[in-house]
Amino acid sequence: MDSSILIKGGRVVTAVDDYHADVWVRGEAVAAIGRDLDVRADRVIDATGKLVIPGGIDPHTHLDMPFGGTTSADDFESGTIAAAHGGTTTLIDFAVQTKGESTLAALDAWHAKAEGKATIDYGFHMIVTDMAKERLPEMTRLRDLGVTSYKLFMAYPGVLYVDDGVLYRTFRKAGEDGTRICMHAENGIVIDEIVREAYEAGHREPRWHALTRPTRMEAEGVHRAIAIAEVAGAPLYIVHLSSREALEQVRLGRARGVDVQAETCPQYLFLDDSVYERPGFEGAKFVMTPAIRPPGHQAALWQGLRFGDLAAVATDHCPFCFAGQKELGAEDFRKIPNGAPGVENRMSLMFHGGVVEKRISLNRFVELTSTAAAKTFGLFPKKGTIAVGSDADIVVFDPDRRRTIRASDPATHHMRVDYSTYEGFEIQGWSETVLSRGKVVVDRGSLVTRGGGRFVRRAGVGELLR
Ligand code: URP
Ligand code: ZN
Ligand code: ZN
Repeated sequence: MDSSILIKGGRVVTAVDDYHADVWVRGEAVAAIGRDLDVRADRVIDATGKLVIPGGIDPHTHLDMPFGGTTSADDFESGTIAAAHGGTTTLIDFAVQTKGESTLAALDAWHAKAEGKATIDYGFHMIVTDMAKERLPEMTRLRDLGVTSYKLFMAYPGVLYVDDGVLYRTFRKAGEDGTRICMHAENGIVIDEIVREAYEAGHREPRWHALTRPTRMEAEGVHRAIAIAEVAGAPLYIVHLSSREALEQVRLGRARGVDVQAETCPQYLFLDDSVYERPGFEGAKFVMTPAIRPPGHQAALWQGLRFGDLAAVATDHCPFCFAGQKELGAEDFRKIPNGAPGVENRMSLMFHGGVVEKRISLNRFVELTSTAAAKTFGLFPKKGTIAVGSDADIVVFDPDRRRTIRASDPATHHMRVDYSTYEGFEIQGWSETVLSRGKVVVDRGSLVTRGGGRFVRRAGVGELLR
């Protein structure tokens, strides 16, 4: 007999609905929704005064990823536990193809990293670092294995960068197969020249990471990616979009009918480039690519979220400890590993900055943090909503609770990294109890189940996952 849970008396909010009801969970799925449900349940969760929302979906994380001469500090165990504490119940992480090797081997390697460790469900995008013509059939195989999106890089020459020929070839095959391209759109070749100039002029401090990455080079990358996708016939998703100029290119592409969407991340909404002026080497905590932008860009991105030009909010969670990892670049900004933590903070930040501060509606909050990613990346309607038959990935969210984020506070920081990107932020709205496929994983703030996360085979573009 399946175990059952009744979530009673909450305000159920999805991307389109908002009503008071009980939600009955039996086994792994939602079995019934209604007023004053008369059902037997092994456990009743009182959700009076709380929101009952779909578990968050973060479509952009880097767990246990070798990068920048080290490895991201959260693995699939710690990263998924932190995500669950923050109300996220599905991650889409990135498997990385080693240049010259099979993407299928990369997928096996990432399965080995995650299997048995993850506390919430996960999928993979495939990072393509080369795609010789002979290798193209691998992409169809990946699709059949449930990896229905790719990430390619115009940034990081010599590491993850691929040229426009590889972009076109991969885009074309992705389009033919009914899969999607995710693009890190920044002109890395030009940026590397600017970085060289800065280094030769004697600049070494973290702020030079930002000063060498003009927003115009992001906009150029977005423009080029859209043009290539348009010609190749591939659905496109721009990752971690950070600037007004880049957003304008997305708007233009969409206006002329190109299938392009874009995500942004909380760091580009909540921070400005004054973070690089912090004393000593502190600015290294914010060394990520794209860089944090000057004041003004943040309001433009919020507007993009509000008006629909930006489709989703991901974290690009790629944590490196300040001690021992960020410090690799203490004498040279080029050697600071790129990336920052955030998987635990996304839902609360977006609720606070979006709903409490009245920039977006409650429905849009759910859409941006869960439903949109589910639809874009082949997880809907199994995930991304609360409906009969959907996975019971559910968050009982307290919209009134206020807390301050501190890396030293075990109640607000479970990521395995020695600082918080949002240290000292006072936030209203916290995940209280979190269910992953019908199991309570976080119960009123405490982890009660670990290790039950499963790989999800995602559907292709425009297909439903049942
Ligand atoms: O700085 C970042 N964003 N690190 C992770 C890799 C990437 O570009 O997404
Ligand atoms: Zn990237
Ligand atoms: Zn990333």
